[in-house]
Amino acid sequence: MSNHLNSPQLYCDPQIFDQERQGLFAEQWIFAGMAHQLRQHNDFIRVDLLGRDVIIQNLRDKLVAFVNVCSHRHSIIHDAPSGNRSLTCPYHSWHYNAEGIPTGIPCKKAFPLVTANPEAYKLQSLELARAGDFIFLRVNPGEQTLPSFLGDAMGFLEQVSAALGTCIDVHESSIQANWKLVIENSLEGYHVPFVHRTSLAKSSEIQFSQDEKDSQDFMPETGHSAVHNHANEKWLQRWSRYQKDIGQWPFMFEHYVHQLVFPNLTVTSFLGYSFHVQHFRPLAHDLTSVHSSIYSTRFDGQSARGKVLMQSIQTENIGFTHQVFDEDKTACERTQRGSAQASRPSIPGEIIEQRVSDFRKTYHRLQKLK
Ligand code: FES
Ligand SMILES: [Fe+2]
Repeated sequence: MSNHLNSPQLYCDPQIFDQERQGLFAEQWIFAGMAHQLRQHNDFIRVDLLGRDVIIQNLRDKLVAFVNVCSHRHSIIHDAPSGNRSLTCPYHSWHYNAEGIPTGIPCKKAFPLVTANPEAYKLQSLELARAGDFIFLRVNPGEQTLPSFLGDAMGFLEQVSAALGTCIDVHESSIQANWKLVIENSLEGYHVPFVHRTSLAKSSEIQFSQDEKDSQDFMPETGHSAVHNHANEKWLQRWSRYQKDIGQWPFMFEHYVHQLVFPNLTVTSFLGYSFHVQHFRPLAHDLTSVHSSIYSTRFDGQSARGKVLMQSIQTENIGFTHQVFDEDKTACERTQRGSAQASRPSIPGEIIEQRVSDFRKTYHRLQKLK
């Protein structure tokens, strides 16, 4: 293995960040948001794709994505991170249709070239495709369809989408660390007993099987990976006593799953009664914003007692998730500061940090680094 895969420079160099913007983040399908945020005509969200300001908008039930720059004199079209307004530039009020063509131009006689051929002055569009509720964008048109890019993860995201209930927590926070370092941290459990000694380490001991081995799936062609930790038998038996009150839910399983959709989306769940969706957004070579949503699922046959019980589990889950996030944030920021001073490659362990190595190999291949 080339040492280059583990070079600290990959986390600290603004030029590499720029190469990622031109390479990986322009050529691949990239997760950008959830369709339930865009239910009404004119609903929009803004997404930062490595410094590329992009809007996704619902225009008469069609989801479209454009670079957020007006064709006229290049004003930003939507300023807010999300909202509901027509696709109209606030500067001189050029209005665009679902194809991004300027169809409403005040004093249009002043723009004979544009009115003669409005198609030539379209907004810059991005390809958009969905896996259930999960929206993916691609900057440069390519051959690979979203189902072929996602492989097994497509079915998983569709099942999760069908099971999603209310969003019970949204949390956005910045971490002063490179985006790859933040994602790599979420891919290994090696740090859990040390960084999460009083939080995750305790619950993992109770909830996860110590006898059955974790199973890991990795798709080398695209870089997606998943780990499944089987639930502890004793814990499942205790849980089954409450099952009658809690009821049934659409996507039930008996493990914890952590799914990475390469490069920057993770979906995690324990037993399928709630889902944690994390979207890692690179803002600079040493700054990452993490957008994190926790969803409940939908329950059938839940008693009043089951409802109270589930609410208390979910409230505890939210507090717990925030604590774990803060612990990870500190660990990532320390590692970023250390990486900036490191002169030798880092050393991911065998098996225990296998998903980190897999992530690096995929990154290296898709970034076409020499
Ligand atoms: S810059 Fe958008 S209408 Fe003028
Ligand atoms: Fe962690």
